[in-house]
Amino acid sequence: MSWRLRRAAVADLPALVALEREAFASDRFNARQFRYLLTQARATCLVAADDDRLLGYAVALYRADTTRGRLYGIAVADAARGQGVATALVEAIAAAARAQGCTALGLEVRADNDAALGLYRKLGFVAAGVLPGYYEDGAAAIRMRRDLAVEPQSS
Ligand SMILES: CC(C)(COP(=O)(O)OP(=O)(O)OC[C@H]1O[C@@H](n2cnc3c(N)ncnc32)[C@H](O)[C@@H]1OP(=O)(O)O)[C@@H](O)C(=O)NCCC(=O)NCCS
Repeated sequence: MSWRLRRAAVADLPALVALEREAFASDRFNARQFRYLLTQARATCLVAADDDRLLGYAVALYRADTTRGRLYGIAVADAARGQGVATALVEAIAAAARAQGCTALGLEVRADNDAALGLYRKLGFVAAGVLPGYYEDGAAAIRMRRDLAVEPQSS
């Protein structure tokens, strides 16, 4: 499969909403939230796409009062999983956050989301706390954090 990363655009909104619906049973972004992230938020919104369709997205949010960016959302379409799409998205988000002056990237992940936990651990995130009842269905979140101050070693 041949795909590339690019900045998300407003024209991607329907595909983003469809992907979100496919990827999450609850706590989903709706079209209004995606539109805000794309047009108004201090954010980096990236998508992975092939010639025909959107394969994944990732969003980082920044705040003026902290150098810690937040990996706010990420999902990869079912058919595109296990091929490094999320890895490429997270690394591109980390590079974008570093370029914004961030020294760390934080996130929250469901404690029962083994795929995402595996992804984040592999990419250098470490657990930094537990947030009981964080999600709509009462599930706990694990808060994770990756230090961005050190440039990654090229292999
Ligand atoms: C989590 C998710 C984004 C991973 O996307 P992906 O493109 O398949 O991930 P990658 O191919 O880049 O995998 C990178 C690493 O993640 C981990 N991983 C991915 N899928 C996994 C699975 N099903 N079980 C365990 N670990 C998994 C592995 O460590 C993997 O490295 P490896 O291939 O060397 O074993 C994808 O499963 C997804 O969209 N899930 C639904 C939405 C979601 O949960 N988002 C995260 C919210 S915090």
